Amino acid sequence: MKKFFTLCILGCLLVGTAMANNDVYSDEMNRFITDLMSRMTLEEKLGQLNQQPSDEIATGPVVGSNASKLAAEGKLSSIFNIMDVEKIQGLQKIAVEKSRLGIPILFGMDVIHGYHTIFPLPLGLSCTWDMEAVREAARIAAAEARANGVAWTFSPMVDIALDSRWGRMAEGAGEDPYLGSRVAEAMVKGYQGDLFDPNGKGDTGIMACVKHFALYGAAEAGLDYNTADMSHLRMYNQYFPPYKAAVEAGAGSVMSSFNIVDGIPATANKWLLTDVLRKQWGFRGMIVTDYASIAEMTSHGLGTLKDNAARALLAGTDMDMCANGFIGTLKQSLDESKVTMEDIDRACRRVLEAKYRLGLFKDPYRFGSKKEANRVTYCKEHRETARRITAESFVLLKNGTSDHPILPLEMKGTIALIGPMIDTRTDITGSWSMPQDATKYTTLREGFQNALKGKATLLCTQGCNLIDNPHTQQAVAKGHNCEPIPFVDCDKAMKEALDIAGRSDVVVCAMGECAWMNGEGTSRTNLELYQPQRRLLEALKQTGKPIVLLNFAGRGTVLTWESEHLDAIMNVWYGSECADALCDVLFGKVSPSGRLTVSMPRATGQEPLYYNHLPTGRPVADGTKDYRVWSPNYLDAVQGPLYPFGYGLTYSSFSYGDLKLSNTTMKSDGSITASITLTNTGNRESTEVVQLYIHDLIASISRPVKELKDFQRVTLKAGESRNVEFHITADKLKFYDYNLNYVLEPGEFEIMIGPNSRDVKVGKLKVEN
Ligand code: NOJ
Repeated sequence: MKKFFTLCILGCLLVGTAMANNDVYSDEMNRFITDLMSRMTLEEKLGQLNQQPSDEIATGPVVGSNASKLAAEGKLSSIFNIMDVEKIQGLQKIAVEKSRLGIPILFGMDVIHGYHTIFPLPLGLSCTWDMEAVREAARIAAAEARANGVAWTFSPMVDIALDSRWGRMAEGAGEDPYLGSRVAEAMVKGYQGDLFDPNGKGDTGIMACVKHFALYGAAEAGLDYNTADMSHLRMYNQYFPPYKAAVEAGAGSVMSSFNIVDGIPATANKWLLTDVLRKQWGFRGMIVTDYASIAEMTSHGLGTLKDNAARALLAGTDMDMCANGFIGTLKQSLDESKVTMEDIDRACRRVLEAKYRLGLFKDPYRFGSKKEANRVTYCKEHRETARRITAESFVLLKNGTSDHPILPLEMKGTIALIGPMIDTRTDITGSWSMPQDATKYTTLREGFQNALKGKATLLCTQGCNLIDNPHTQQAVAKGHNCEPIPFVDCDKAMKEALDIAGRSDVVVCAMGECAWMNGEGTSRTNLELYQPQRRLLEALKQTGKPIVLLNFAGRGTVLTWESEHLDAIMNVWYGSECADALCDVLFGKVSPSGRLTVSMPRATGQEPLYYNHLPTGRPVADGTKDYRVWSPNYLDAVQGPLYPFGYGLTYSSFSYGDLKLSNTTMKSDGSITASITLTNTGNRESTEVVQLYIHDLIASISRPVKELKDFQRVTLKAGESRNVEFHITADKLKFYDYNLNYVLEPGEFEIMIGPNSRDVKVGKLKVEN
């Protein structure tokens, strides 16, 4: 205790005013850390580079962490995924009072889309196209996590993902670098609150960690952890922007990725971690590895743990997540002159800076209190916000015909609710809901019962398995704190489903992926609904009853058969309030407003499929049905996506007037406006997401056929019209050229506005020097 007081008093004396002004990499902070480091042994410095997982929630192959012993010895800098604030503070007490210098522990957690109040998967959150909502979701996640003792979240994941076979697409914002950048900023700001605000008190927020730097989403064949390999041109133009935006928004930390970049695992890639991230982008925070990735470099074929720990340190890594590479081998590497004391000091200083900026030296217990945890965790206000935002995220893909829409449903007669997702409490929140408390959540069946009480009869049954393989159905739950969805007798289950469908007016099917059929390590080779689900839908179709499919997913799904045969389809991205939010939308209280942020393919073989691809020398228009020889089209699929990026319906309809440009020429330092008149031509208030795209027609390198550059959510009453305007300046037209200079090249551009990336109005703009 005495030791910590000495440290604390010294800290307060030295840092004094700087603590209020807590974002400054100030002289005071430098003095404080220099003084502290002058008293640290080599072992204690290496201890500051060491992070361990708790043994409570496994998010990788479990290793014993022996936390209390390490904390007392000053060898545990950070630990992640401990659930209870009292446990966290108990461990903190050991570090602060028992270790020689009393340096506090940094407690991290995978708070990915909520703590107990769980928002839709990040992919679903991005489908709101509502940056206020994204920021608010992150703010609430941080408020609950902080109250429960967490100071640092391993989020946002901002990896661009073009291939729906890759299950981790669920954790990001989809395929677009512009939208991805806006989401990245909103999440960082939402998480960090006023933590690093020079004028703030630092009493809201937790530190964000931008991951996985870099290119993790480019895993070949959509196979998780697989090779990523691409030109620097592509990195800078397509993959880097969201990481850069997150860094510019002030993210306090970055996590390196598992994959190789230019042949070297990101964890040890100096060009990536030091030249790009620190030198070019000015990042000053802390870099942590991903789970055991220093150890995994051996499997990448790069030698021993000792060699790789040294390489990672030299590349710019500061903290080793559970590989025991830094703490276990750097002393020897120092003795062998493979690394220098300066290299170790540099990393140690960055870790201590993060702790200092978080205010941990002033008050190691400032993150979390039982009282605050009880007050905010899953409180009414958070739940209501989550319900609203979850409803905003659903993407309505099909709704009967314009003359005969199926949704919203009337609350009358008999409604059948069928499918493997109807009774699960643990899977309703989706993958990466580590901190969830499933006992609190409402199942779909319960949500429907509450909504329909006294108004309509509800008949429910599971109807089918998720997948034909019982082992897989169990395995996706095992290890994730989820109750497996019961593996049922198919024939019996189908019979029961057909029976209740026959007695109902409408059939609602809740199908798709249970929570851990997306997320880490969940690659797929076939993106159609799994066979038992499809078989049941085919049988239900024979009843002639209207069928609504709720497709639970964390990626693009192939819905080609479903779009032909079913009456309505809505994509659903989970969340603790999902059941109530679904009832709000299905029964018409809320008009859907989500828009896809991933292109939905017609067939899995089209992957990676994304709207902002480069042109080929032999363009074939999307929608082309007939196969053409010598052309980049498939023998067996209509060209392009089934549902394009940006697509989604509402319960109303909108018309777009002609696109107007305030000027058809623009000076390279000038600006113009592009506008359209938007009219709600339907009979109820709804929200449209108006999207601006550009196409650089002639450039020094090949440029994408379309690029999103802006968007607005516009809510109009029935019959109302509004002029929607976008300002176009050089920054919307620039790109990285062959020499990686960020340039605007004068010439012709197409300017496009529309409701999605396919159905746009086009105008031409000439940019002059
Ligand atoms: C591995 C994942 O790749 C990463 O996203 C996560 O934050 C860590 N495990 C810690 O759980």
